[in-house]
Amino acid sequence: MICGERYDPLQLSAVYVGFFKKTFHPLSNCVLTVGIGLQKFGFSPVHPPMSVSYENKMKSECCIVYYSPNGSTRRIATVIEDTLKNTSVTVQARDLAGPDDGSPFLTGKAGCLFIGSPVYRDTAIPPVMQFIEALPRAEGGFAVPFITWGGASSGVALWQMGQALQKKGYVLAGALSVIGVHSLMWQSKQPECTGHPDTHDLQAVADFIGKITRRLTDGKIRPLAVEALDYQKHIDGDSMKKKLGMPWMIMPKTLDEGACTQCGICRDECPVAAISLSPHPIFNSDCFDCFNCIRQCPEDALIPAVALEDIAKQIQKRVEYFDEDRSPRLIMNSDHVDS
Ligand SMILES: Cc1cc2nc3c(=O)[nH]c(=O)nc-3n(C[C@H](O)[C@H](O)[C@H](O)COP(=O)(O)O)c2cc1C
Ligand code: SF4
Ligand code: SF4
Repeated sequence: MICGERYDPLQLSAVYVGFFKKTFHPLSNCVLTVGIGLQKFGFSPVHPPMSVSYENKMKSECCIVYYSPNGSTRRIATVIEDTLKNTSVTVQARDLAGPDDGSPFLTGKAGCLFIGSPVYRDTAIPPVMQFIEALPRAEGGFAVPFITWGGASSGVALWQMGQALQKKGYVLAGALSVIGVHSLMWQSKQPECTGHPDTHDLQAVADFIGKITRRLTDGKIRPLAVEALDYQKHIDGDSMKKKLGMPWMIMPKTLDEGACTQCGICRDECPVAAISLSPHPIFNSDCFDCFNCIRQCPEDALIPAVALEDIAKQIQKRVEYFDEDRSPRLIMNSDHVDS
């Protein structure tokens, strides 16, 4: 039987490497402040009663954190930020790949953490999960995980993030997933989800965030059960979940030293500073296989173990196999809010 595992392009000749070595605290100041601020909500968030409306109102500060190696998740984060800016709440956004200028990210009274990841191999990417795992306990703060995926499968990333956030004491206020151009297909004639997220996707996100924010600020939010994010009910959903907790896979890359000009673009484009030049690129174990270095190398000097055309074919098979609905998935309580 054909299954999702089999068509994961990055399992074809991947090697396992331990990833979670680096303790990642880019927002330690902010996060501490978020944790302390959220403790003031005064209710137990871990198993919220689904039938009772929360009286608590969101405090006025929100933060948005995300990783976005290819830009689609950033576009969603920007819409969330712009939407929040049109409300009474104050908001700060941080691209986790960007420089940490050392300033406190939030000064306190945090209301809701919006946290975004692209989907890689059906799951959220390691730096995002690492960030959540490094958060102090929130004891009742709100959180909204969001993902972008490339049309193959949105996987179990929202469920994975929701679970991790809930373990940290966050109350899920909602969750959303949106398609974005598939970031492994830049050399294909017609990459999956080309043009996405488009204006329709972005408007759906804005409307949804507006709705969540109104409910949060009015104190009418009803906590979302993490089970609502467990929507991959087919048999492959279980195999996707089995990937969680397994070591992250990295596709081997070889360097064509003759072609490499030691320009350093790959190093500069790496979102987790996993490349140093000596004088050619050397990779450390922080690499989470986003393919940015391969994509951005002007000399095509970095060569993945599986040819990009073969990866594209595998992706297309996965697209056909899963045939997942591509409209924005906007989840509040246990209801899906239509876009
Ligand atoms: C290594 C890798 C694995 C991916 N795995 C999946 C996947 O399992 N399912 C999917 O639909 N898209 C997958 N994608 C595509 C991305 O999820 C999608 O393009 C996403 O919008 C990228 O977000 P970004 O632009 O913020 O980096 C993968 C991309 C990469 C680079
Ligand atoms: S971007 Fe390409 S050419 Fe430049 S240093 Fe990296 S591998 Fe070499
Ligand atoms: S080394 Fe390359 S593939 Fe790995 S995280 Fe950095 S840019 Fe992405």
